[in-house]
Amino acid sequence: LKPTVQIPVNKDWSKRPCTITKYFSENIENILNFEVRNDDVFVVTSPKCGTTWMQEMAWLVINDFNFEEFESKNLLLERSPYLEFSELIPGNKNRYNSLEIARALKSPRLIKSHLPAHLLPYGIWQNKLKIIYVARDFKDATVSAYHHLRGLGILGGSLEEFCEKTMKGDVSFQPFWSHVLEFYEMRHESNIFFMTFEMMKKDLRTVIVRLCKFLEKEVPDERTLQEAEKRLSFEYMKKSVTKGMDVINDKLPNKRDDLEFCRKGEVGTAKKELSLDMITKMDEWSETFIPQKNLLDIFLK
Ligand code: A3P
Repeated sequence: LKPTVQIPVNKDWSKRPCTITKYFSENIENILNFEVRNDDVFVVTSPKCGTTWMQEMAWLVINDFNFEEFESKNLLLERSPYLEFSELIPGNKNRYNSLEIARALKSPRLIKSHLPAHLLPYGIWQNKLKIIYVARDFKDATVSAYHHLRGLGILGGSLEEFCEKTMKGDVSFQPFWSHVLEFYEMRHESNIFFMTFEMMKKDLRTVIVRLCKFLEKEVPDERTLQEAEKRLSFEYMKKSVTKGMDVINDKLPNKRDDLEFCRKGEVGTAKKELSLDMITKMDEWSETFIPQKNLLDIFLK
């Protein structure tokens, strides 16, 4: 899955390019014109920012903490389709057609996407549908992406080479900051829930409660909240999500045995794995999009 196509910005959104794999971009018209429903909720992120974690949380809230259904159905295949991941993926005999899965899903639907704002279905903006956006420290997300793509067997080279590639925009859904800032700028809109991985780590309970309010749901009783927290814990998700991912990933011919979707689940992993030089370089690169001071605003609030 090599990112090969730079999609120009659509309509009158800002002049921000985004790297999309050929297989996703070939399907982009179907995605832009995807028929939304009024009660659809979208979880949108730049990859590796805590998408799956938020999907699980949002699914529980939307479905009145129905733990039985939560456990009996696979997140990725049955509960929350990945919008742009569709039939055009080559070599996949049992095609995962996200659009078909989404069409067959009962309402309210929870749909995941890594697309930047300007490439999401037009219907989202026309109907002001709810979007949950999750951001994460750029360096941590990049390190997470490296290990994931390498584990899937679709990436060679070193971690630092991957960081360089990411900053060059030669990795899907980059540049990272354009993606985050599009939504950060919209954070005060009533249909946008802007959240960070760091906040979820710091105080998961508060995030669940805030999400209930955003999704216009009653905050459940203490016992239910505790049950939800258990299912959203790293240890629990390490088992449950990995099982679901394997259904798709096992078809990949070069998948590595050490692939771990929930690898660390921490804040600050990059500082342990990257050289000081690379950390400085990535911080300086980030500064070209957003001053350090504002960055602290995003991640510490
Ligand atoms: P690491 O690779 O740093 O461990 P995404 O779903 O966007 O692909 O993000 C994956 C990242 O979220 C991984 O980060 C994964 O471990 C982390 N994650 C998933 N569930 C988590 C949880 N319950 N608690 C903490 N981190 C979690």
